Amino acid sequence: MAFSSWSHLRLRLPHLARTQSLTVRAFSTTVMSPPSKAVVYDRQGPPDSVTRVVELPPVEVKENDVCIKMLASPINPSDINRIEGVYPVRPQVPAVGGYEGVGEVFSVGSAVKGLSPGDWVIPSPPSSGTWQTYVVKDRSVWHKINKESPMEYAATITVNPLTALRMLEDFITLNPGDAIVQNGATSIVGQCIIQLARYRGIHSINIIRDRAGSDEVKEKLKNLGADEVFTESQLEVKNVKGLLTNLPEPALGFNCVGGNAASLVLKFLRQGGTMVTYGGMSKKPITVSTSSFIFKDLSLRGFWLQKWMSSDKTNECRPMIDYLLDRAREGKLKYEMELVPFNDFHTALDKALGKLGSQPKQVLTF
Ligand SMILES: NC(=O)c1ccc[n+]([C@@H]2O[C@H](COP(=O)([O-])OP(=O)(O)OC[C@H]3O[C@@H](n4cnc5c(N)ncnc54)[C@H](OP(=O)(O)O)[C@@H]3O)[C@@H](O)[C@H]2O)c1
Repeated sequence: MAFSSWSHLRLRLPHLARTQSLTVRAFSTTVMSPPSKAVVYDRQGPPDSVTRVVELPPVEVKENDVCIKMLASPINPSDINRIEGVYPVRPQVPAVGGYEGVGEVFSVGSAVKGLSPGDWVIPSPPSSGTWQTYVVKDRSVWHKINKESPMEYAATITVNPLTALRMLEDFITLNPGDAIVQNGATSIVGQCIIQLARYRGIHSINIIRDRAGSDEVKEKLKNLGADEVFTESQLEVKNVKGLLTNLPEPALGFNCVGGNAASLVLKFLRQGGTMVTYGGMSKKPITVSTSSFIFKDLSLRGFWLQKWMSSDKTNECRPMIDYLLDRAREGKLKYEMELVPFNDFHTALDKALGKLGSQPKQVLTF
């Protein structure tokens, strides 16, 4: 009797029947994320005009998905280049900004193994869309890390520290007592190169931009382990190597900047030396004298982490991330950061764009 009256109702009110069956399915299997507050851009262009903070609706957490509550994510130069549309690989628009960060597992899909709510994870290799409060992605994206890691280091450990680590390993064999030279020494990559080199007994010669307060900056870099720090104007001399007192001529140099700063790195290199370019902060080209090739036989190389981390490196890079996070936890890998609440995104962006002069790395906290 009860069944027949229910069928009768369904026949009379098909829309009601549909609503009820949907409701039942939703309660039994569909898990949704919370809504997410996100930095979105609908077209590429100047980041300060094309980005806006919006609320995105909940999305389904499928059986192999993990929903992450983001804790922190930096604004890196490459994030800016992706939004500008000048980075070689960039997400399709509309897109959420950000590429690395750290978050806490909020919920997991029914088939997910090895992760539980409360665990800390980073996307590894990094992947787009970290500037939002909740991210839902496949289990394979996430690497579980030690929860005792300082949050801001966990958020920033891949793009820059891993670049520094790889560049010290991948070009020439360096032995304790050797020296390297670099420009852009105040960048996070630069600060990591100083410390990772020192950890291996390798000396560093560092070049920074001229600025007010350069003595204080030099002191900070020396405290990290830099042997020598010069401003670009200090190197306007005929024989830059004459400025080195007890250091060997470097065989390896790193170029973060281009333009004159790159020429200065080349001047320090010894016969047969190699300069690795990984950044172009000045947006100026590298000019190399003919004599550098003929008489010094210098080599010019490049490094791009995103290419290095092609998917077959996923398993290789995770132990390196753990190694770097261990160093950060021990206080042996440090770099300057400013933590900024997500609500102040546009102020942090202005600082990252250099509108307010030299600033520490901006790290958004959620
Ligand atoms: N190839 C790769 O795989 C790879 C990986 C990671 C990073 N990168 C690149 O490495 C570079 C540094 O990244 P980061 O995140 O470590 O940097 P960061 O911490 O954000 O610091 C920015 C650095 O750039 C310098 N800078 C800013 N504007 C400049 C200008 N107009 N002229 C000269 N120098 C300028 C700053 O010097 P001041 O202190 O004087 O302001 C500072 O040293 C970027 O170009 C980034 O894209 C490349």
